[in-house]
Amino acid sequence: MKVLVATEKAFAPVAVNQIRTVTEAAGFELVMLENYKDVSELLSAVADVDALIVRSDLVTSEVIEKAKELKIVVRAGAGYDNIDLPACTAHNVVAMNTPGQNANAVAELAFALMLYQARGGFVGKSGTELRRKSIGIHAFGNVGKHVAEIAKGFGMDIYTFDPFVMEKDIKKYGVKVCNTTDELYSKCQYISLHMPANDKTKKSIGYQLLRKMPKDAVLINTARKEIIDEEGLLKIFEERPDFHYLADVAPDCAALFEEKYKGRFLFTSKKMGAQTEEANMYACLAAARQIVDYFKTGNEKYKVNK
Ligand code: 3PG
Repeated sequence: MKVLVATEKAFAPVAVNQIRTVTEAAGFELVMLENYKDVSELLSAVADVDALIVRSDLVTSEVIEKAKELKIVVRAGAGYDNIDLPACTAHNVVAMNTPGQNANAVAELAFALMLYQARGGFVGKSGTELRRKSIGIHAFGNVGKHVAEIAKGFGMDIYTFDPFVMEKDIKKYGVKVCNTTDELYSKCQYISLHMPANDKTKKSIGYQLLRKMPKDAVLINTARKEIIDEEGLLKIFEERPDFHYLADVAPDCAALFEEKYKGRFLFTSKKMGAQTEEANMYACLAAARQIVDYFKTGNEKYKVNK
């Protein structure tokens, strides 16, 4: 079996070693395509591989079609909005993710962004503290739960809205449950977004919700830029000079922020949420093990396509 790791943004070397150890122990061949610059490199690298490990790399129908031998693609991470699932299904390719493996790293970045904002960008002026401030965790999945644990340490007042998680499972974390997004956004000065990007969530965070946030509102997005309705975001920025937005990767309208709203935003230049050695190691190890297990036993536990 030939396993390709194709990462436009490379994993830490210690994490690649994990994949090598697991695949070689199974008698598989490992090939690497790291830091590639053009999709043509990916298209030729997939030609003869049986398994593929990616990060946010786009696995389009073209990639799937070129990968004639491909049986499984694993997104080493949580969000699989970068994988064309119908194309995988049409070509009998199993698609999987590795949920939870990089969740703590993403949660820690959410706090790095919050602290950066609370301390006014570290330029010498007095800022504010997170203690006793309200935080709304929008979606209580793996990352949301880590955010709650960290927020507890900071002494924050914690709320969440997630219709897919039982109230008792939220309360275990000492988090208050909101029954609507309106309630969450009205109560919380800090909102941290943790939902996937799909047909239901894309552009779902817009003006009507954001306008509910209290004074000195801070919106933190370590999820996906696509869940933001950028027109609505720009409208609230125009209306409310007290509104702030910090995100892991820039919105499409980043140039406008640069031009008009200096000091009220921060955008990472590359997606940084999962960029820790630990997150890379956990996600890599899970991806490699899932591939070996799939070929040896047929285990499809983390399959995400139908
Ligand atoms: C994820 O969905 O797991 C995160 O967004 C991490 O993405 P990355 O592996 O491309 O950094």
